[in-house]
Amino acid sequence: MGVYTVSSVENLRICVVMVGLPARGKSFISQKIVRYLSWLSIKAKCFNVGSYRRQIGAAHPSADFFDFKNEEAFRIRENAVTQAVEDMMKWYEDDNGVVGILDATNTTRSRRDWILKLCRENAIEPMFLESWCDDQEMILRNISDVKTCSPDYEGVDPEKATSDFLQRIGKYEKVYQPLDLDHDKNLTFVKLVNVAQEVIVNQIQTYLESRIVFYVMNLHIRPRFIWLSRHGESIYNVEKKIGGDSSLSPRGMQYAAKLPELVRESAGDADLTVWTSTLCRTQQSAQYLPYKQLQWKALDELDAGVCDGMTYEEIEEKYPEDFKARDEDKYEYRYPGGESYRDVVIRLEPIIMELERQENILIVTHQAVLRCIYAYFMNVPQEESPWMSIPLHTLIRLEPRAYGTEVKRIKANIPAVSTYKEKGTSQLGESVNDATKYRNLLTGEGGN
Ligand code: ATP
Ligand code: F6P
Repeated sequence: MGVYTVSSVENLRICVVMVGLPARGKSFISQKIVRYLSWLSIKAKCFNVGSYRRQIGAAHPSADFFDFKNEEAFRIRENAVTQAVEDMMKWYEDDNGVVGILDATNTTRSRRDWILKLCRENAIEPMFLESWCDDQEMILRNISDVKTCSPDYEGVDPEKATSDFLQRIGKYEKVYQPLDLDHDKNLTFVKLVNVAQEVIVNQIQTYLESRIVFYVMNLHIRPRFIWLSRHGESIYNVEKKIGGDSSLSPRGMQYAAKLPELVRESAGDADLTVWTSTLCRTQQSAQYLPYKQLQWKALDELDAGVCDGMTYEEIEEKYPEDFKARDEDKYEYRYPGGESYRDVVIRLEPIIMELERQENILIVTHQAVLRCIYAYFMNVPQEESPWMSIPLHTLIRLEPRAYGTEVKRIKANIPAVSTYKEKGTSQLGESVNDATKYRNLLTGEGGN
């Protein structure tokens, strides 16, 4: 694509090799890393060995299948991991892959040595990521959250599935050789102990590896919600102007007055923190919210540079080339003296990192910024995210779940103008098609 990314500068290929007993969150962590890196335009893909195993015939194995003395089953499992690794190697070559994740238990040293050798032969940096956990309650919760509904246990009673899965873990425990600072002192690895109560980091070599480490260190799995809202309708919105720092319109003020009730209905008595941008319209919108508030410059609206304060019609007339170029590649297009969507994503990275660390947060910000944040949580591809419709006077509730994010949309029922501009026109408003697309995105199951 010819676009700057950390990985293209370093010319790197990394293989993140997951390590850990079943139900330790390896797939969860793998999928999150892929979503995070993809959002930052770093090519990443997860290769889940369980899916390969199911494809080659072992679709509903009982715990005995995972007994390391079961030679026939062992052969099938080796076959599954070999196919996953072959596909991963092909992906590095054919698709210029940067971060491949091998999602399997990789519990034995012999398996890890085999992967290490393959990585070295193919100029790929191996980075082991172990999730170690002895919190029995958490493990049981994980089993009931995701394992009893896994395709492995299709049609099986949840209690029976749980008991079989615990036996499966037992089979792995017999051969498990955790990473350790003595034996593995020369390996690049991160070891997460009981989520991130303790984190052991060894021999990190590159900037990209250190970003991955920092990201996984910040993850938590406590239940929580994230609410997103645009500011209420502003005077500039009514005048069809972009950018600026105008105040709310009377209808925007009505939204500000109603926001506390909408939030309370959705959050109940739960405590939360409100994040706004530094612009007047988000602060006016948040003014009646009875929670702690924090302003972030990084949440300010995409900077329209020389076009700030103009309507789309004026831009089309004064800068026709720019108007066309933006429609052609809205994600990459940078306003002269201003920003592109890509620029906004890069400045939002600390926000995403902090969001991962925090519990309940309500973000009151702007259309382009919300599109970028929403794209991260819902795994929306770059070419689509700048075209998503996020209307005014609507509160969006995100609920991060095991393998994705659930979305709920709460309308305030206070009229507002549409600020949505379709491709190829300078007029505002949504066609039926776009409105439908929006609905699908909002109700669609998490992006993973
Ligand atoms: P398997 O080896 O059977 O594929 P797994 O280790 O990949 O299991 P996941 O399928 O990812 O396990 O389990 C998901 C569950 O793990 C979710 O409920 C999630 O909340 C939880 N989880 C996420 N991170 C961690 C962690 N670091 N430690 C323990 N549990 C975690
Ligand atoms: O539950 C354990 C599991 O995720 C299985 O679905 C999968 O077959 C296996 O791990 C893959 O890991 P390994 O090949 O290391 O056993």
